[in-house]
Amino acid sequence: MAQNPEAAKRVLGVYGAGQVEPGMVLGIGSGTTVDAFIDALGERLRHAPFSLVCVAASEASVARARAAGVPVQAPESLGVLDLAVDGADQVNPERVMIKGGGAALVRERLVMSQARRALILVDSTKLVPRMEQVTVPLAILPFAWPATLARIQEVTPEAYLRQVDGHPVMTDDGLYLVDAHVDDLPNPEDWHAAVKMLPGVVDTGIFAGFPAEVVVSDGEAVWPLEPCQA
Ligand code: 5RP
Repeated sequence: MAQNPEAAKRVLGVYGAGQVEPGMVLGIGSGTTVDAFIDALGERLRHAPFSLVCVAASEASVARARAAGVPVQAPESLGVLDLAVDGADQVNPERVMIKGGGAALVRERLVMSQARRALILVDSTKLVPRMEQVTVPLAILPFAWPATLARIQEVTPEAYLRQVDGHPVMTDDGLYLVDAHVDDLPNPEDWHAAVKMLPGVVDTGIFAGFPAEVVVSDGEAVWPLEPCQA
């Protein structure tokens, strides 16, 4: 299968924008695929304006949306969403996702949890038959972070604070990130439950149990992920 992730993002962005209906309350996730969705939605609104209420899961998405002419409200207005559109880093055949590569996992889970319908847009390189050799982002409190990291390493030894130029990467909510490298994750939900309960851990990047529609593109075609397809 030919794979062109950058073209796929554009194709998926247009597909996602086509799923938005006038009057919807829309949740917008974060990441480069979501950026393509925002741009395509802005383009659609420019050509044929309609009313829309949106909340976005990251400050970057808020800025992108405003620049594209997509109206965004404060997150405090977050009620039930008709549709949430987001990306993912990996998706397995059971539609369990790893998210958080872009550091917005906490807000993304909130947005997805509020949605009647969740649409996940992924290029075909993100599909995995099983979760092996994966990196799962975790959001942790900065307070006493070395102790939290040590607790995480008791579960998953290869876990490291995410840093750029020697400084911890901070989320929009002032949290730090840990990237946990796991050889094999046969039960991602169990791992999520075990790690999320550790003191200092706010959330993990394992997203399971959402009634999410996963839509895939290789840069040309667009298709829904069927459970046995990855
Ligand atoms: C950010 C996310 C993103 O949705 C995920 O990292 C995918 O990003 P991209 O579309 O840039 O590949 O979970 O926290």
